[in-house]
Amino acid sequence: MKKKALWVFVVVWGIACLWGSRGCLEQERMALLVGNKGSNFNCCNWEYVECNPTTGRVTELMPYYVGSKSWYLKASLLLPFEELKSLYLSGNCLGRWIPPKEPNLLSSKLSKLEVLDLSVNSLDNSILPVLSTILTLKHLFLNNNYFSIKNMSHLENLYLGGVHLKDVATVLRAIGALSSLRILSLQGITIEGTITAQGYLAPLTSLKLLSSSNSDLSGNLSDHSLCNLVKLEQLDLSRNRITGRLPTCWRNTIRILNLEDNEFMDSLTSSPIASLASLEFLSITGNHFDIPSSLSPLADHSRLKVLFLGDNNLIIDTKVASSIPRLQLKVFRMSNSLSKGFKVTSLSFLNHQYDMRIMDLSSNDIRGPFPAWLLENNTKLEMLFLADNLFTTLEVPSRTLFNLRVMDISNNGMRGELTTKFCANVPNLDHLNLSANGLEGNIPSNLGSIKSLYFLDLSSNNFSGGLPVQLLHSNSSLHSLNVAYNNLQGQIVLPTDTMCPNLSDLLLDHNRFTGNLSFLSSYVNLRVFGISNNFFIGKLPRLIANMSNLVALDLSENQLDGVIPQEFCNLGLLNYLDLSYNNLSGPLPSFFISKLVTHIHLNRNKLNGTLAHVLSNSSYLVTLDLSENEFSGSIPHWLGNLSQLSILSLRGNSFDGTFPKQLCSLKSLSMIDLSENNLFGPLPRCLGPMNFSDEFADKVNSIPHIEAGFIPWSPWSYVRAIKSHTILDRNEVLEEIWQLPHTVGFTTKRRFDFYKGYALLKMVGLDFSCNQFSGEIPPEIAILQDMLVLNLSHNNLTGQIPTSLSSLTKIESIDLSYNNLTGPIPEELTQLNYLAVFNVSYNNLSGAIPSKYQFGAFDESSYYENHLLCGLPLSNDCSTTININCSATKSCAKAKEDAFIDGETFYVSFGVSYTTVLLVIPVVLFINPQWRQGWFHYVELVISTCQSSFVTCYYYVQDSFRKLSNC
Ligand SMILES: *[C@@H]1O[C@H](CO)[C@@H](O)[C@H](O)[C@H]1NC(C)=O
Ligand SMILES: *[C@@H]1O[C@H](CO)[C@@H](O)[C@H](O)[C@H]1NC(C)=O
Ligand SMILES: *[C@@H]1O[C@H](CO)[C@@H](O)[C@H](O)[C@H]1NC(C)=O
Ligand SMILES: *[C@@H]1O[C@H](CO)[C@@H](O)[C@H](O)[C@H]1NC(C)=O
Repeated sequence: MKKKALWVFVVVWGIACLWGSRGCLEQERMALLVGNKGSNFNCCNWEYVECNPTTGRVTELMPYYVGSKSWYLKASLLLPFEELKSLYLSGNCLGRWIPPKEPNLLSSKLSKLEVLDLSVNSLDNSILPVLSTILTLKHLFLNNNYFSIKNMSHLENLYLGGVHLKDVATVLRAIGALSSLRILSLQGITIEGTITAQGYLAPLTSLKLLSSSNSDLSGNLSDHSLCNLVKLEQLDLSRNRITGRLPTCWRNTIRILNLEDNEFMDSLTSSPIASLASLEFLSITGNHFDIPSSLSPLADHSRLKVLFLGDNNLIIDTKVASSIPRLQLKVFRMSNSLSKGFKVTSLSFLNHQYDMRIMDLSSNDIRGPFPAWLLENNTKLEMLFLADNLFTTLEVPSRTLFNLRVMDISNNGMRGELTTKFCANVPNLDHLNLSANGLEGNIPSNLGSIKSLYFLDLSSNNFSGGLPVQLLHSNSSLHSLNVAYNNLQGQIVLPTDTMCPNLSDLLLDHNRFTGNLSFLSSYVNLRVFGISNNFFIGKLPRLIANMSNLVALDLSENQLDGVIPQEFCNLGLLNYLDLSYNNLSGPLPSFFISKLVTHIHLNRNKLNGTLAHVLSNSSYLVTLDLSENEFSGSIPHWLGNLSQLSILSLRGNSFDGTFPKQLCSLKSLSMIDLSENNLFGPLPRCLGPMNFSDEFADKVNSIPHIEAGFIPWSPWSYVRAIKSHTILDRNEVLEEIWQLPHTVGFTTKRRFDFYKGYALLKMVGLDFSCNQFSGEIPPEIAILQDMLVLNLSHNNLTGQIPTSLSSLTKIESIDLSYNNLTGPIPEELTQLNYLAVFNVSYNNLSGAIPSKYQFGAFDESSYYENHLLCGLPLSNDCSTTININCSATKSCAKAKEDAFIDGETFYVSFGVSYTTVLLVIPVVLFINPQWRQGWFHYVELVISTCQSSFVTCYYYVQDSFRKLSNC
């Protein structure tokens, strides 16, 4: 196996070299070729080789993907590369490095080798003796391997990130012996045991950069921690759990200090930071620092350019600095500080800033008018984040802000109009987010003349009038346009032959747009398209078949009619499809090609025909809602193959036949609604193996992630430009930016914030009501232990209520009404502590009604028309038998409504449960605003379904239910 890998390695080099012409040195060529002596080639032309242009000698080698299994490298192969400076062998599955026979050969031949990258391989300690013979080595990357280091006192840079270390003390002692070390990166290291004795690093007096980010450090830094590191310039201790105060001994050499996401508890005024006047970059985000709003302790830090202070405790001090602070920042982030509701003017140092490039004050509940003066003072500003505050008006900056590219003032509640003048003064924007404000009037058409505009979010305002055609113009670079939740109206008419190849995400939902969808012919590259809740009419355009990028399509709640064209099946990337609440008719197209489709909502249309094989290939399907259509025939067996299916609703169709036993193989099902059909025969006994899901959260998360469409900017690249330092990884910073505190823009009919953070709801329920199922209730049904809701009402069930129902310990609602059940109500059911709704009316039950526990709370409506039942709450004593008089049999639907708890409780539980679900997935949703919109919309839709039928919602009752019904 190892031979084979080596052979691949050599041959790959060889073949690559064959294409060149003679040029590199003979023996190097030989080394690369081994068996192919005499061929004409120039190694230097090969993309994995870098040569010195004058000598023609190889200076850099970076072979990739040499093997996919562990292989050994013979070091003697490298001997001809005498001028080699850098050797990159990262990620090559390298298992061992076999040294040449003469111990000093390597160091004498590879006398120029300075950079050796062996990271992400499967090397172990056996490499170390080999490495210690290469005396020239300055940069050694060993991260993501399996070993530790010793005897390398000449080493200057050591990157050990991702290594798992067993014995902390030994390791740190070994590191401590590397007295030449200048850069030490322990980022992401995992250590068994805790690093308590920071003193181990004390001998590293040459250390300039120490990164120990995310490396599991805890406890206090003692007053002496890192005191010996007299040359330290860059220190990164971010993402650990270090507590307490900062050591007092840190020196003025430190330029870059990153302490974010720890548990430091200190006051900025008295901490040593106040005297670290050489600081250029400082992040203390996410600690417990007390920070005076005047920033007076930093007033003299004239070199400080990047300052991240968020998630700390801002202390408003009214103290006005006697002199003008020398602090002049370029990047300032102070989002989500713990003292909310102050005024921008409390940050008095801002008055003196005129060189800002990036400013982030989001999520502080800052009050008052929009601080346009900040923009005027800082004409170089490129990015402004003021989301989640309480600014009242949107003021027009009085001068043109040529540099402003990103502006996010969403979720502020600002009133007034977005004026033409405003848009004219920000001519180079590429990202504008004004969503969730109270802006009104027309959308100014000159927004369309901002040529660079890439991302525009005006959703959730009160904009009226039409959508300016200029925004949708052919030469617009707009990539993402969201105007959902406004009062926009009119038709969307574009000049014929307009093509907008750039537009990828278009959200028009919750407006009053009219007309048909023919404008879609201009947007063949759309990825996300949502028009839910408008007045669009006409047929679904066949050209949707050409929109091969389409991932999410939401056309719900319009007045679209006609059939679903066969062409829909061609959408190979389609993932989310919602056509519910339209007037679509006819059969479903025969096959959906997209195997990725996870959520399909076709409910409330007039679709008919049988289901044949429509979705039999869609093995990722999680939600299938076909309720309230006119489908007929039997329930298709192929549903049993959709192993991810979690929610299945076929309610309100004309399905007939018996329950297909194939459905019993659905291991992930958490909600199944077959009510209001013509199903007959016995209830399934095979439900036993059916494992109602515990894992709905995972499913929701498994929505295949749409790549975030918008990251044209990166604050990090900017920070990097002004200060090139190596501590932080770009992606980490980006990720953090994307996690800027956000509100879940989720409006339900009721919102109950105090349920935030509750455990994820497990929506589990079974509704077979309003069919003609007959026979007994199979005792096996009790195996569905997570069930919250069971509804078997309005069938033709006979026999007794199985005592086994008492093992459904989580159940909150049981409805068995309108059947032909006989016998007593099992006393054991009183053990069901969460039972809030119980209905057995209109049966032939007999005997005494249990009265213990929950059963004391049920009134007589639970028991109507069971002539042989007796005891409270009925008026007949168990010693006599008197029939209670009750109204005649009601229609199925009406009776069901009556039978259920009042709507209020039910909205509450529903809203709450979905809120909880959503709170668990905000990251996915936040990364992609379109998904967020789509998902929230989806949720709302389900909620509006509830208005017309309590039955659906019934499934969403959650643990909190009990609390609610008790208060
Ligand atoms: C910035 O704006 C404030 C408020 O208008 C003003 O008081 C201050 O002098 C300005 N600072 C500079 C440097 O222009
Ligand atoms: C489906 O509905 C259409 C009208 O919308 C009707 O013409 C057709 O016969 C129906 N098909 C079935 C199988 O019911
Ligand atoms: C209900 O069941 C009884 C007895 O099994 C049968 O006679 C009757 O026809 C059934 N009713 C319906 C509506 O299926
Ligand atoms: C109820 O069941 C009994 C016998 O089990 C049967 O005689 C009666 O017809 C049934 N009633 C209905 C309404 O199906």
